[in-house]
Amino acid sequence: MIVCKSAAEIDRMAGANALVAAILDELAAATAPGATTRDLDALADRRIREAGARAAFKGYRGYPATLCASINEQVVHGIPSDRALVEGDIVSLDMGVIVEGFYGDSAVTVGVGAIAPETARLLRVTEEALGRGIAQARVGGRLSDIGHAVQQWVESNGFSVVREFVGHGIGQALHEEPQIPNYGEPGRGPRLAEGMVLAIEPMVNAGKPGVKVLADGWTAVTRDGSLSAHFEHTVALTADGPRVLTVRNGAGGSGRP
Ligand code: MF3
Ligand code: CO
Repeated sequence: MIVCKSAAEIDRMAGANALVAAILDELAAATAPGATTRDLDALADRRIREAGARAAFKGYRGYPATLCASINEQVVHGIPSDRALVEGDIVSLDMGVIVEGFYGDSAVTVGVGAIAPETARLLRVTEEALGRGIAQARVGGRLSDIGHAVQQWVESNGFSVVREFVGHGIGQALHEEPQIPNYGEPGRGPRLAEGMVLAIEPMVNAGKPGVKVLADGWTAVTRDGSLSAHFEHTVALTADGPRVLTVRNGAGGSGRP
């Protein structure tokens, strides 16, 4: 069952998601050569506590950190460590919080210092694919229109979409129905309705789509070792169209849907 939220509940979710966006902005600004992903995790943790919120990922199915920090060929669920970032790396910063019982969830991939033009294109196309998916998150459409739009944009730009991980409904749980694949035929699946809140999160590989999970049980990497990018927004479906609840305004992605 897909839980639809009232306007008042969406306003509460806006609070949790605005906090995620603000912290991601700060993490993106702190992402620089020499920083470790453990530093970024500690910063996220501190900001969440200062806001009186709770980290959504820590302890979720045993996940050990506040932040997922996935470097280069790591796709998602990278565990923060003492590995220092170096110029030219890319890192996906994915974070969730709980405020007043409602979840917020968003991710951005940022370059560390100067990155290669083809790497920048991977980031840009992935964020654009998210924007195209969000544009399909409209009342009266069908769920698979979202993934279809993402896949079409990614593949027409010569990259590939990851199949093993999907977006999700979100609300009083981190992962609610429906699952939101980043591929598929249009016009399939549940009809999109006012009050649905969806975390849309394309994962895009520069090479082939295959991924595997490392022995730590979490870190997903590309099978071919190619770079991977990940952007995620939490989006409420309103009568006026999609309302992005995790709009950022600083560095690291455009901040625009
Ligand atoms: N944004 C991811 C998701 O929604 C992050 C989950 S990490 C986990 O699935 F640790 F919480 F599993
Ligand atoms: Co998510």
